[in-house]
Amino acid sequence: MLHRGNVGLEVPAESAGQPKIVISGVAKVYVDPRTGAEVEALCPVNLSIRAGEFVCIVGPSGCGKTTLLNCIAGLVAPTAGEILVDGRPIGGPGRNRGMVFQEYGLFPWLTVEGNIQFGPKMRGTPLRELVAVSARYAKLVGLSGWEHRFPSELSGGMKQRVGIARALANQPDVLLMDEPFGALDAMTRDRMQDELLGILRADRKTCVFVTHSIPEAVFLADRIVVMTARPGRIKGLFGVPIPHRRDRASPEFAALYRTVDTLLRDEAVEDRA
Ligand SMILES: Nc1ncnc2c1ncn2[C@@H]1O[C@H](COP(=O)(O)OP(=O)(O)O)[C@@H](O)[C@H]1O
Ligand SMILES: [Mg+2]
Repeated sequence: MLHRGNVGLEVPAESAGQPKIVISGVAKVYVDPRTGAEVEALCPVNLSIRAGEFVCIVGPSGCGKTTLLNCIAGLVAPTAGEILVDGRPIGGPGRNRGMVFQEYGLFPWLTVEGNIQFGPKMRGTPLRELVAVSARYAKLVGLSGWEHRFPSELSGGMKQRVGIARALANQPDVLLMDEPFGALDAMTRDRMQDELLGILRADRKTCVFVTHSIPEAVFLADRIVVMTARPGRIKGLFGVPIPHRRDRASPEFAALYRTVDTLLRDEAVEDRA
């Protein structure tokens, strides 16, 4: 199947069959409500994501990555096009899609336990079960024993683990992550990438992960989507045929890094031109 918006880009065979997410012609123009000025954020994007796939989206700053992710989350309505999850059009945010934000987005007035329990509690889960839910997900992200601490008492890496646990506690099929490790130092970031893959292996999810970092994308992704400068469209799609746990110093890793980097560098030059 050839996706029309992505000129010349063939969707890989493994995406055929029953895709989890189908993005068809999704475009976004923001309109300033006061001045009427328009910002074309996203050109029509076409992309199929299969169940259990880990897709990383990389692209220059301001190219519409967050916009695309927010469209999948149902937080932003596309100006054109449609997104199907399990064959059904999305009409807004839903429990089947969990979001993890770059700046953690935790509730500072709630403890670790309170943050993790938030979604299930809103849905009326009984107290007894809530305690089991927070214990399970705190353990999954390595925060057992920290349930009664507040976000202000935690390191950046720990806060982001709470963010992941809070998203997972809603048992979403799809995990949407917007530069979740962008605020972490390099060592913590590498460790979090390892941990995320471990968590997702235990609890298989479809994952759409936005990042600025090419090494992060090559380490994590089954498939990398490279976007053009704003208004963003898909410029390249790369499968990552390297088995986990990937060696960041291996020749295959470096080769794919260079391929993606070259494509993105061209984009930065075009952006300035
Ligand atoms: N709510 C909004 N109103 C107006 N313009 C916006 C809004 N959100 C984003 N934009 C603009 O749309 C473009 C894409 O933004 P965004 O999706 O955040 O990019 P990225 O995540 O790739 O950095 C940018 O030029 C940004 O300024
Ligand atoms: Mg962004």
